[in-house]
Amino acid sequence: QTPVITIDGPTASGKGTVAALVAARLGFHLLDSGALYRLAALASLRYDVAPDAADALVALVDDLHITFREGLAQLDGVDVSDDIRAEAIGNRASAIAVHQPVRAALVARQRAFRKQPGLVADGRDMGTVIFPDAALKVFLTASVEARAERRYKQLIQKGFSANMDDLLRDLRERDARDTNRAAAPLKPAADAKLLDTSALSIDEAVDQVVQWYGA
Ligand code: CDP
Repeated sequence: QTPVITIDGPTASGKGTVAALVAARLGFHLLDSGALYRLAALASLRYDVAPDAADALVALVDDLHITFREGLAQLDGVDVSDDIRAEAIGNRASAIAVHQPVRAALVARQRAFRKQPGLVADGRDMGTVIFPDAALKVFLTASVEARAERRYKQLIQKGFSANMDDLLRDLRERDARDTNRAAAPLKPAADAKLLDTSALSIDEAVDQVVQWYGA
């Protein structure tokens, strides 16, 4: 079986950055599953499908034209890598991710990323639902303040405006929705290793994951 390392955790916990660097170090493929949900959210906005219209969302997701190439995400052949990073799209992604049929419609697309020599997958349910047989499962946490600060920097860097109070409120709201939903709620897999990154540098977090993997 092709090895998989799963990195799950709440919003802005550093999963994406850590996952990308671990993948680069090991020469593994990368699945940013949140980007899939964000692409679905962007498509739902463009095609005017309401976030609570589960059946219409499934149809939309079933013929979503998306590609990932060299870290860029395309929707209908157009690069939307920056568009999907908007906070409003993250919130909309979280709203559509509560529907079990929508999640089910995305399973095969996610598992298709599992290729030799290996895969690093980050998200909310990589270790619990999508890759339950992963070789290593990591659950990243960080204080809500540390996460708001990281997200603030990331948004400013991408050219979005951001406000710390709004971010803290959004983060708490999204944490609550992702944790309390019935479909694949955000929680560590029973066999996950917990890593609190509040006081860790990115390199330290990457080192720890690679060390756990034993590479
Ligand atoms: O970057 P951030 O952590 O804010 O979000 P993301 O990982 O890009 O995911 C956006 C939203 O998609 C999350 O708030 C989740 O509700 C949803 N999601 C999910 O339900 N399952 C996943 N495997 C990944 C994302």
